[in-house]
Amino acid sequence: LNITITETYDEMSALAAQYVVRALHEKPELVMALPTGGTPVGMLAEMCHLARVGAADFSRAFSFNIDEYIALAKDDPQSYYRFLAHHFYQHVGIPTANTFVPDVLADSLSAECDRYERAIQNHGDFDITVLGIGHDGHIGFNEPQSTHSPVCHVIDLNDETIAANARFFSRQADVPRQAITLGIGTILRSKAIVLIASGHSKAAVMKQLHDCTRIDPLFPASFLLLHSNVTLICDSEAASLIT
Ligand code: F6R
Repeated sequence: LNITITETYDEMSALAAQYVVRALHEKPELVMALPTGGTPVGMLAEMCHLARVGAADFSRAFSFNIDEYIALAKDDPQSYYRFLAHHFYQHVGIPTANTFVPDVLADSLSAECDRYERAIQNHGDFDITVLGIGHDGHIGFNEPQSTHSPVCHVIDLNDETIAANARFFSRQADVPRQAITLGIGTILRSKAIVLIASGHSKAAVMKQLHDCTRIDPLFPASFLLLHSNVTLICDSEAASLIT
């Protein structure tokens, strides 16, 4: 896998933002899948900056959340839709109608997963997917397990992920136990994939990903080996175990 190591988090964020904006220049109707969490905050801020100074026009782009917690309302302060709205959509003039998230309040979550998958396909699949990575190697919320659904599905979050995400909630007990996530196949249909990682806590998982030569369902990021256009961008702390 193609890896770029930057000195700082800000440089990682700027590079990832430039990657997206280059793709946007080639295709103003860019179809993006975007992550939430700690890692993408700087990248999203830089994308907002580029839009503010007139270097990026997201008014014809489309954006899909990679995942969403069950069962937080769209406007819940902890929802992943609200995260992207707050860090990105509100600042770049992307039409709300062009922003998508699974309806995690739907009566039938499995029907909703099918609908979300079809909506992605109806947009011609993603031109670009930006991923973070979990300490356990999850991408989206595809947690390590012996088998994987290739398409959008409901997932039980594992204890490590719940503990890692507790920092965004006032109490660990408030962290939702389930989410809807893109499937590994949904991600792999993306024309380009960028994975960003930052900080010492990601050093071990980034070494594992960098060194990996076999697909291992217990290390979901290894499925990226199946894709021919993956760019890893990480800062020096996340790369500190890579030799
Ligand atoms: C979030 C997502 C997750 C995160 C991962 C890393 O939408 O899909 O895979 O990217 O858990 O999260 P941070 O960046 O908070 O370390």
